[in-house]
Amino acid sequence: MLKIIAAVDEQGGIGKNNSLAWHYGEDLQYFKKQTYNSTVVMGHNTFRSLQRTPLKGRRNVVICRDPQKAYDEYFADDYARNKPMVFFYTDPFDLDIINSEFNTDNNVWYIGGAQLYKAVINKVDEIYLTKVPGTHNCDCFMPCLPINAVLKQRESINNLIYEKYVVQHYKE
Ligand SMILES: NC(=O)c1ccc[n+]([C@@H]2O[C@H](COP(=O)([O-])OP(=O)(O)OC[C@H]3O[C@@H](n4cnc5c(N)ncnc54)[C@H](OP(=O)(O)O)[C@@H]3O)[C@@H](O)[C@H]2O)c1
Repeated sequence: MLKIIAAVDEQGGIGKNNSLAWHYGEDLQYFKKQTYNSTVVMGHNTFRSLQRTPLKGRRNVVICRDPQKAYDEYFADDYARNKPMVFFYTDPFDLDIINSEFNTDNNVWYIGGAQLYKAVINKVDEIYLTKVPGTHNCDCFMPCLPINAVLKQRESINNLIYEKYVVQHYKE
């Protein structure tokens, strides 16, 4: 299944200065629990925002227009050589990402940022949103959800609201 996971504030903001604009430890734990042992696909800026440190326990895929250049940049760094493997692709729906033998649970998680969400949001099966209270002067935003996205679950824990949407794709 193709899934988006994102945390958004009350204006749909997702980040500021190529970083998250808030810190909620419980949401990071929720994110880890959902995505662990799966493939995570991120935009190049989001990978940079992680200080180019791949997320542990997940197959990290970075989307960029020039994968060879990004690969050389990353692996030119001796420090990076000791880190887990990262894969670079141009197409977020490349069949090598989706059908990889490493997708033990068959889930591919698109984890941001704004440009990547925009590229995939109309083609995913599920969208997981954490609603963060307040506004945070963000400079990048979640795109609108598809009109065929139906809210299936909504749970409020402490200050955060966790929502799950299922996108109903109708075949012609
Ligand atoms: N709140 C959340 O849940 C959440 C989650 C993740 C990230 N964020 C935040 O989001 C912000 C980063 O978002 P962003 O929009 O600036 O960057 P992004 O989507 O992470 O990365 C953009 C870059 O990724 C590549 N890219 C993205 N879509 C592509 C496509 N369809 N085809 C080819 N290449 C593609 C391009 O790299 P090249 O220029 O190298 O070609 C592009 O410049 C940060 O503030 C981060 O903290 C928030």
